[in-house]
Amino acid sequence: MEIVKTVKELRQLLPEEADKGQVVGFVPTMGALHRGHLSLVQRCKKECSVAVVSIFVNPTQFNDKSDLKRYPRTLSADTQLLQAAGCDVAFAPDEREIYPELDTRTFDFGLLDKVMEGERRPGHFNGVAQVVSRLLHVVTPQRAYFGEKDFQQLAIVTELVRRLDLPVEVVRCPIVREPDGLAMSSRNALLSPEQRAAAPAIARTLFAAVDKVCSLSLPELKQFVADAIADGGRLKLDYFEVVNALTLQPVASLDDDVPKQACIAVYAGEIRLIDNVRLT
Ligand code: PAF
Repeated sequence: MEIVKTVKELRQLLPEEADKGQVVGFVPTMGALHRGHLSLVQRCKKECSVAVVSIFVNPTQFNDKSDLKRYPRTLSADTQLLQAAGCDVAFAPDEREIYPELDTRTFDFGLLDKVMEGERRPGHFNGVAQVVSRLLHVVTPQRAYFGEKDFQQLAIVTELVRRLDLPVEVVRCPIVREPDGLAMSSRNALLSPEQRAAAPAIARTLFAAVDKVCSLSLPELKQFVADAIADGGRLKLDYFEVVNALTLQPVASLDDDVPKQACIAVYAGEIRLIDNVRLT
């Protein structure tokens, strides 16, 4: 595996455009890698000739600067994990490589970013769009792999690629969970032992919501989730929404005849965790 820090070095390692048979696969990450990321890398490696993984903690997507400051940075452990997972090129640029000039672009995602994470984290998805578009421009992959844990991010990236007409396939990959159900996230490493012990209630509650979807109304389901998250006293519900899985707009009723996704954000102390599950 090659580890490169500059766009120039990266370009030297990418297959020539004329080299038609080569498929470049790309997994963008912010590091602090876990099995969720590694499952994306393994799939990328299986489906592509060259697997490129970026590690870049993108400042423009952090609306909360203390969240940016405490975001875990574990570059040497990350590169070892990537090597073992079969990554060919690890791209770990510094900020000037990604943003040689201030990125003033603003993206319009219509209603997609007006709900859930977009509503609570102003500017977050604009920052995601800035960095993902820049990374896709420099890596020029044919396939890019994203996890479904960040369900709204996936919808935004898919829309970004469609609007910019980029020649890349966005590959959706399932959530990877800890044995106790907690969705894998780099932020899990920041949880205290007590918070970590409480956190599996998030997934447990979502799975219980799936079981109850036929017997409860939407307000009853929301109340059930709010009570289950509050139970135990260590978690604080930020939101629980049942949305149309394609438009991400909240459904009016559980009887709406659309694919439905239940999405949740919860605070464990200062740490914000998200998760989601298909309802019907
Ligand atoms: O999902 C993430 O880790 C980040 O939002 C991404 C896609 C790497 C962009 O910084």
